[in-house]
Amino acid sequence: MDRKYWETIAPKYNTEIFDVLQNDTSGSIVAAIEEMASPDKTVIDIGCAIGKWLPVLAPKFKQVIAADISAKNLEIAKNTFPEYDNVEYQRMDFSADELTVTPCDSAICINAILTDSREKRINFFQSLSLCLPVGGELVLVVPSLESKLYSHIIADRWNVDDAENNEIPTPKKAIQQAGNIRQGVTDLDDVPTKHYLNEELQLLLTLEGFDVKLIKKINYDWKTEFHKPPKWLAEPFPWDWMVLAKKNK
Ligand SMILES: C[S@@+](CC[C@H](N)C(=O)[O-])C[C@H]1O[C@@H](n2cnc3c(N)ncnc32)[C@H](O)[C@@H]1O
Repeated sequence: MDRKYWETIAPKYNTEIFDVLQNDTSGSIVAAIEEMASPDKTVIDIGCAIGKWLPVLAPKFKQVIAADISAKNLEIAKNTFPEYDNVEYQRMDFSADELTVTPCDSAICINAILTDSREKRINFFQSLSLCLPVGGELVLVVPSLESKLYSHIIADRWNVDDAENNEIPTPKKAIQQAGNIRQGVTDLDDVPTKHYLNEELQLLLTLEGFDVKLIKKINYDWKTEFHKPPKWLAEPFPWDWMVLAKKNK
């Protein structure tokens, strides 16, 4: 999941990439953003892609920095929302070894730290910290490893979507997958994607100088996981983790 991957996805973004804003029917993420928003504050949308969160951010903050590694995504976002004159688009790589960024009062980062590279993730979490001054607030959403494993267990136990006929990986791929799962990296549509444990998020953010205020499930419909979920399958629903954190040093 490097820059090339995201540039290639950009033109078909809407059909290929899961829409968190649309699928968070609880409205918890929007509520968390509204809680930290103010017309006097600036906010950075880290990994903004084609700008789905801009209609939530632009009317509530003084200024929005929409940042992404993909120039094509930023171009699409800019063309989609010409009405927001308080949005500045910046191409940035938050996984780079060095990042120059002007801190904002608040930050959101919704399903952007997905890379299977541990080094790139370490840099990304350090960059989150660089984006905020002491006292700055962060809303972070990431895929849940607990949820992914739970879905796999359900799929295998009840043969959901004909799981027992899944293609058997080659020995090489199987070795790779075994190594990946130790790191919380599991395939999403055949793309190795980082998923996180609750405790891991707490640790990663604490190490970067954040106080974690809340870690909460963002629940989705089972149809986001399976083509044909069993009729009886209800709670717990599949989920992402939403973290609210404040920079403390
Ligand atoms: C799954 S999309 C999420 C987009 C958006 N936050 C949303 O919720 O609709 C992930 C985005 O993160 C961006 N991204 C991935 N790695 C990045 C990096 N190292 N620096 C900046 N953006 C990155 C990708 O280009 C992509 O647009």
